[in-house]
Amino acid sequence: MARKISAPSLFQLGYYWEAKIFLTSVKLDLYTPLAKGPKTAKNLAGLIEADTDALTRLLDALVSIGLLRREGDAYANIPELAEFLAKTSRFYMGELMLLQDAEWDHWGKLEDIIKTGKPTVQDNIFMNTPELGATVSKVLHRMAKRVAPALAEKIDLSDYKTLIDVGGGGGAFTIAFCQRYPHIKASLFDLPQTLKVAQENIAQAQLNHRIELIEGNFNTGPLPGTYDVVFASDILHYQTEAENAALVKRLYDATEPGGFIIIKDMFIDDDENEPGWNAVFSIHMMVYSEKGRCFQGKKIRDWMTQAGFDNIVEIEKNTILAGTKGV
Ligand SMILES: C[S@@+](CC[C@H](N)C(=O)[O-])C[C@H]1O[C@@H](n2cnc3c(N)ncnc32)[C@H](O)[C@@H]1O
Repeated sequence: MARKISAPSLFQLGYYWEAKIFLTSVKLDLYTPLAKGPKTAKNLAGLIEADTDALTRLLDALVSIGLLRREGDAYANIPELAEFLAKTSRFYMGELMLLQDAEWDHWGKLEDIIKTGKPTVQDNIFMNTPELGATVSKVLHRMAKRVAPALAEKIDLSDYKTLIDVGGGGGAFTIAFCQRYPHIKASLFDLPQTLKVAQENIAQAQLNHRIELIEGNFNTGPLPGTYDVVFASDILHYQTEAENAALVKRLYDATEPGGFIIIKDMFIDDDENEPGWNAVFSIHMMVYSEKGRCFQGKKIRDWMTQAGFDNIVEIEKNTILAGTKGV
């Protein structure tokens, strides 16, 4: 269901101040020193080399929003939020916020982009800033690790022996599939900078002997072999329609007869009246990449059908489609 907007929430939408206050608090990394215990504004200003008065005003705003709380004359973390915001926590997600902050200037160009239809950046973060792309891969990996085991449980690979994870990132899904199905041998195909991240994670999972890393660009040339299962997660929304149609055909060519493909992405709902939040995500892709956008599930089904896949089914609404290749 589309969100209901009331007159008061119009103001919340338009007054984006809270977003920038929050992003700045992450950029200044206020939550990490506070993880050791409450601190006064003066103490914190000394630690992060900030102006005490300006920082006090920021801290009060953070208390008002509910991101920090006050303890006497000191400011304290809210433990359930600090779990994601303090660098010392293993669930730290701050890099994602830093990415939003890095996009700030691009969002300022949205009006121009809408008027001209022209992107303001080249390629995407994985191509134009590989170092930042690798950082993003680390965060995406931490997020994917939370859902990958459940997906490996849901999709039965008992009868399959080989798998390729195309644009496999940090390897969360490849690892989960290999852990769930001990007979599977997998290949993870990605760009060089991302493979370094995958390599660390695969070594940590002690799966080097079962997961091969293959460096390459999935838009140029055939994939390196054929596999029982072809898995592609969150790569289509970086590309144009034409690139994706060609890529899905290449994925078909890389699927063994009798094998199948799993495409996971962020689909816009086929019902135009209820496009879902991915329509908003699609604007983020428009702002921070050259060609990125989200597509309706029916568009992805079309590419799969044109490529030759049969028995196309939706495994998770607006997230996962699977299809088979005939023998
Ligand atoms: C959003 S991440 C998805 C990672 C992983 N599949 C997941 O779902 O968590 C997109 C991945 O595609 C890779 N990638 C982007 N363009 C590529 C290309 N042209 N060839 C190979 N890999 C590419 C990036 O390096 C990144 O790992």
